[in-house]
Amino acid sequence: MQQDVNTLEHRDTRRQWLRSAFLLPIAGAISRRVFGSQAASTSEGPSTQEEPHSVVLPQYPDDVMRPVNLHEFESVARTKISLPAYDYVAAGAADELTLVANRAAFGDFWIRRRVMVDTSNVDTSLELLGFRLAHPILLAPVGVRDLMAHDGDRLTAVAAFNSKAVLVGAPRDLMVDLGKQNRAPRWWAASLGHAKREEAARWAKENESAGASALCISFDYPYSGARDRPSRDHWESQWSETGRYDTGDGEVAFQAGMIAPFTPNLSWQYLGWVRDVTTLPIVVKGITNGEDAKRAVEAGANAIIVSNHGGRTLDGAFAT
Ligand SMILES: Cc1cc2nc3c(=O)[nH]c(=O)nc-3n(C[C@H](O)[C@H](O)[C@H](O)COP(=O)(O)O)c2cc1C
Repeated sequence: MQQDVNTLEHRDTRRQWLRSAFLLPIAGAISRRVFGSQAASTSEGPSTQEEPHSVVLPQYPDDVMRPVNLHEFESVARTKISLPAYDYVAAGAADELTLVANRAAFGDFWIRRRVMVDTSNVDTSLELLGFRLAHPILLAPVGVRDLMAHDGDRLTAVAAFNSKAVLVGAPRDLMVDLGKQNRAPRWWAASLGHAKREEAARWAKENESAGASALCISFDYPYSGARDRPSRDHWESQWSETGRYDTGDGEVAFQAGMIAPFTPNLSWQYLGWVRDVTTLPIVVKGITNGEDAKRAVEAGANAIIVSNHGGRTLDGAFAT
């Protein structure tokens, strides 16, 4: 099954362009012009040297071409994981308007540069929810890390530990396990919410006693996002048990939108359910406007994360 996944502009093109055959004719034409005009301007008259026909750009070995920025990892992933798995990770909801808008919005940020500031000692550390962090980098909750690499949850956790990033959405048992080896990163538990008060309370207490530094609840997932790419791929949502990424029978196991209510009854009272049983900071993820930010704080949140779930839930929501 093949489909065009190149629906978005990618910035991973520096190296691709180097390798691209598209550049060779242009480079050849440029070199002919440069060499030709240089030869004509010498006192010795027109050059008798043979004109180069093309410039052969160096073919870098794979270890040189290895990904060095985040954008480049995406094209590597396309070759390493199956299309349904890739699509599941990359897809936004519906027409992916919000996904595209998110990326475009990043392109609108520019740095106003000041000069003549002594930067020999740069301190990126900050105080966040009661802890001193080396830098303000948090890994967002991602439910399917094992889909992208065998033992992906553990690898991500160890990477977070090594780079001093906060891991949001860490599996509790894994954190306890890594904690025994002194290799657990600072972590926040994450949840998409629970339908019942007892479930929410149990989740909060269990994570607090396992060593979470905060509890993060995403309020933007009352229904699974209606994602076209997994539908087209016949995505098998039980992949971790079946070992397959498509249902194999043309059915779509990934049910989204109104067909798949997740926690449609979630409301601000949820924060009270959690607040009553924990002293940990509560972070509400998925806020995209001032009214909701205010409501979240009034209802007991210590912090909010401005997010539209990467455009994976409600298409048409504006960019963060
Ligand atoms: C494969 C994948 C799985 C995700 N799973 C979750 C999840 O379980 N819970 C959640 O709150 N967000 C989840 N997200 C959303 C991310 O946490 C994050 O919000 C998103 O990638 C975009 O970043 P933004 O929040 O800055 O818009 C997932 C994103 C991806 C790509």
